[in-house]
Amino acid sequence: MGESATAKKLFVKTYGCQMNVYDSERMTEALAGQGYERTDRPDEADMILLNTCHIREKAAEKVYSELGRLKPLKAANPDLKIGVAGCVAQAEGEEIVRRQPLVDLVVGPQSYHRLPEMEARVRGGARALDTDFPEEDKFAHLAARPKAARGPTAFLTVQEGCDKFCAFCVVPYTRGAEVSRPADRVLAEARDLAERGVREITLLGQNVNAYHGHPGGLAGLIRALAAVEGIDRLRYTTSHPNDMDDALIAAHAEVPALMPYLHLPVQSGSDRILKRMNRKHTADAYLRVIERVRAARPDVLISGDFIVGFPEETEADFRATLDLVAAVEYGQCYSFKYSPRPGTPAAERPQVDPAEADDRLQRLQTLLTAQQRAVQDRMVGREVAVLFEKPGREAGQMVGKSDHLHSVFVGGADVEPGHLRRVRITSSAANSLAGAVL
Ligand code: SAH
Ligand code: SF4
Ligand code: F3S
Repeated sequence: MGESATAKKLFVKTYGCQMNVYDSERMTEALAGQGYERTDRPDEADMILLNTCHIREKAAEKVYSELGRLKPLKAANPDLKIGVAGCVAQAEGEEIVRRQPLVDLVVGPQSYHRLPEMEARVRGGARALDTDFPEEDKFAHLAARPKAARGPTAFLTVQEGCDKFCAFCVVPYTRGAEVSRPADRVLAEARDLAERGVREITLLGQNVNAYHGHPGGLAGLIRALAAVEGIDRLRYTTSHPNDMDDALIAAHAEVPALMPYLHLPVQSGSDRILKRMNRKHTADAYLRVIERVRAARPDVLISGDFIVGFPEETEADFRATLDLVAAVEYGQCYSFKYSPRPGTPAAERPQVDPAEADDRLQRLQTLLTAQQRAVQDRMVGREVAVLFEKPGREAGQMVGKSDHLHSVFVGGADVEPGHLRRVRITSSAANSLAGAVL
């Protein structure tokens, strides 16, 4: 009664991967129990939570500069509480509190179910820090998700953590060991999402295809989810090449709800570098996985991640990466300059000249952009299914995603968010397609 009038305001800013987007939703819901509602205005917030990413140096530095920018807000409102969550919180812990005295709360990605209790301590004037990897399952300790209606797409975390220890990567340290959520809980959450209007679910995990919470692995979970009423589309990300088993590849052939899209990072096309990266597969093994997936689902769109300028990468190694890209024909790609991360083995090795690494990144991105555009342009004239999400920039325009995750704009049609319609693609622009509803 009258609670909304006194509701405290929570501003959440999310950095990094989709898993952080999911976690931000869950943290917001957890704090709703403490009387918070979300705002998109930091200046009216009673609490600001930065959900952070530690994957590259720039990502982590952004957090400190953002914290610096919050200083005037805290000066204007001494009751404002500032929290740091996510992977920087995990990696830096107390260092954040030392470096930035205006931070009241630091919570790691595996302990945010303790946020309500931490918030109470912070309200009492204390500072709270929790970067444990608790035994208990945080999801089981979070309150049930609210019943409010939501948009047509949702993320659902099914697996967290990583045991692979690629030589460049902080994730095994910030997210901890691989853990899978039990299939029955995932299914219950999916049914609940479907009841609230969700039609497409993207299953998330740092190594989502290492999922073992269902006896049939990720493939078993996908088949079970495909039977949930109201769920029309399923996706999953991110996969590791070594965990693409036969059952998952068969699901791409046999489960219509499983979308023809596979994000399968390889990082490099050089076997020497892959070995130094501790990826535990060769370039050829990666290409064979893609061949098998394409045999099962010929129209699958392949997406990938690359790192250039990894320690000791030579021009010849880099050319091997360009060759691999040419062989795959990516429909989507993310490429990064290697960023040495404290505590990871590769950070200690001889580094590639930064100007050389910049040059390689540019050459790789030129090739990838051309490939992505070619794959997208080939959609022109085709009929595709589009799940509409929201109005476009122009009046009467709607935008949604195709099965292949291309953004598709249509104009003047009687479509609403949540509608899944057949669309004839008429043109292709830099990052999107346009078409007409059939
Ligand atoms: N679990 C996923 C990806 C995790 S991080 C996988 O196994 O592929 C997302 C991407 O960030 C990685 O695929 C990699 O391309 C990039 N990345 C990770 N650490 C990096 C670093 N130290 N420097 C530059 N890019 C990095
Ligand atoms: Fe990082 Fe490698 Fe694990 Fe992916 S598989 S999260 S790149 S350590
Ligand atoms: Fe970044 Fe952590 Fe995700 S380091 S990429 S937010 S798992």
